[in-house]
Amino acid sequence: MILIRLLILGPSGSMGRLISKLALNDDEIEVVAACDITNIGDDLGILVGSNDSTNLKIRDVVELQNIIDEVKPEVAVDFTIAHAAEKNCITCVKNGIRCVIGTTALSKEFLTEFNKLVKEKKAPAVISSNMATGVNIFFKVAGILADYLSDWDIEIIEAHHHRKADAPSGTAMAVGEIIANAIDKKFEEIAKYGRDKGPNKREIGAKKEIGVHAIRAGDIVGDHVVLYAGPGERIELKHQAHSRDCLARGSITAIKFIAKAGENKIYTTQEVLGL
Ligand SMILES: NC(=O)c1ccc[n+]([C@@H]2O[C@H](COP(=O)([O-])OP(=O)(O)OC[C@H]3O[C@@H](n4cnc5c(N)ncnc54)[C@H](O)[C@@H]3O)[C@@H](O)[C@H]2O)c1
Repeated sequence: MILIRLLILGPSGSMGRLISKLALNDDEIEVVAACDITNIGDDLGILVGSNDSTNLKIRDVVELQNIIDEVKPEVAVDFTIAHAAEKNCITCVKNGIRCVIGTTALSKEFLTEFNKLVKEKKAPAVISSNMATGVNIFFKVAGILADYLSDWDIEIIEAHHHRKADAPSGTAMAVGEIIANAIDKKFEEIAKYGRDKGPNKREIGAKKEIGVHAIRAGDIVGDHVVLYAGPGERIELKHQAHSRDCLARGSITAIKFIAKAGENKIYTTQEVLGL
């Protein structure tokens, strides 16, 4: 079997470590380099908690072009920080490397330039702010249910650990967009964040209002519920993440998909999963 030659960008980070561990143990993948700005010179296998050294040292990302010339990766996976991903993934795509980008908050300017290079260099990519298989199926089903139940009330409730800085979560906002789209509305026009204790005139029905509620408690990894409530009955669609493993596993699926993808475009996780 021909192995996918993989470059890992950000192996020292929390997602990078999970992805590195899975990639090092995957029969279809050969990790050819791992670049970061920290842990330079450390053995990747030891860093991710394996007992055996891999003879694969974490290398300084400033040498990225030389490393690419030397090890000739086919696919790069990036979970770093937006400004770093933007610089390093442009270098990768210019070298014809197929990228899987999980890093969030990428700029519009980057996406435009990157998309142009994907076509020019015939190097398709996956960009997704949530690589988890279950979440993407949850998105798909949430839209289908909303389409059937557009006359009902629809509310989104999310819960995360008390350290999470932002609220509502990006996933809650994404599912809100999908639901609004399914009922031909703009989410920003009908989203209603929380309900205050004062007089709160209620605009009835999902087409008028989608409530979004955030809970911050304990060490909850991430729960999302979409509640569809009609006269005398209701449906609750729920996704619960138990750990970040689902995100890392989804990234490995995306790496294998993009290694064989035929069209020179940027794919979503929904496309990776054939949804
Ligand atoms: N798409 C998804 O499914 C998904 C899931 C989780 C996190 N994320 C996103 O992935 C990114 C990383 O998340 P994390 O929790 O692993 O963060 P983290 O802070 O734990 O790790 C980031 C890593 O990037 C490294 N880094 C910084 N600058 C770099 C550079 N110039 N070149 C190479 N490496 C560099 C850091 O040293 C660190 O090791 C964030 O943008 C986060 O929002 C996406």
